[in-house]
Amino acid sequence: MRNQILSQIIKHTIDSSAHLTPEMALRLITPQCALWSAPPEENPFKDPYWAFYWPGGQATARYILDNKHLVKDRVVLDVGSGCGAGAIAAAMGHARTAVANDIDPVAILASQVNAQLNGVTIATSSEDLVGAACSDCDVVLVGDMLYDEEFADKLFSWLTRLAVQGKLVLIGDPGRHGLTGERRCQLSMLGSFPLLQHTCEENHGYTDAKVWRIKAE
Ligand SMILES: C[S@@+](CC[C@H](N)C(=O)[O-])C[C@H]1O[C@@H](n2cnc3c(N)ncnc32)[C@H](O)[C@@H]1O
Repeated sequence: MRNQILSQIIKHTIDSSAHLTPEMALRLITPQCALWSAPPEENPFKDPYWAFYWPGGQATARYILDNKHLVKDRVVLDVGSGCGAGAIAAAMGHARTAVANDIDPVAILASQVNAQLNGVTIATSSEDLVGAACSDCDVVLVGDMLYDEEFADKLFSWLTRLAVQGKLVLIGDPGRHGLTGERRCQLSMLGSFPLLQHTCEENHGYTDAKVWRIKAE
């Protein structure tokens, strides 16, 4: 089964570097792929979020690659890792351990394919860790996870608890509605990254994605 899914991933995606982290190649479904425009019933994957590199994830990974000291020798957890770019960026930044965590097991396989493609080793977890203590980890990366208000409530409270415990919690986001004004008051903005033209067009006209840090107090 695993090998079958791996070959489906390879068959239906292409190597792409057309994003904010061009030093990293990722297997993605792009407009050059048949599945880009195929109806859902012809798609062998259910909700293949991992096959796209979301603006928030691109910004987070870019920020890590530009600030490798933040992850060097540390344990980094990329929650909702999708294609695995956050964990791969952390591994490129010499994290002690970089963990790609996604509840979609296909995303986990895709992140392993992508890690191998980039010559790095990552750990993976398909457990739902939202709410968990995560006592072993030092840095938490969250790329584009604030798209659903109910989930954003749960996620943000958990991330705030982790930040208060002293973990570095970074959130990449292009302006999704889950990032309310009230929540923004609890964040410091670390960087803003203009998106490539095609990413803007594919993402409802968002023009940039920001990286935020949850304040520890
Ligand atoms: C919009 S995608 C973002 C993917 C990636 N971070 C990026 O920016 O390219 C959201 C991802 O979160 C995953 N996800 C949703 N709920 C989750 C949870 N409770 N724990 C871990 N992953 C989750 C989904 O399977 C999906 O791959």
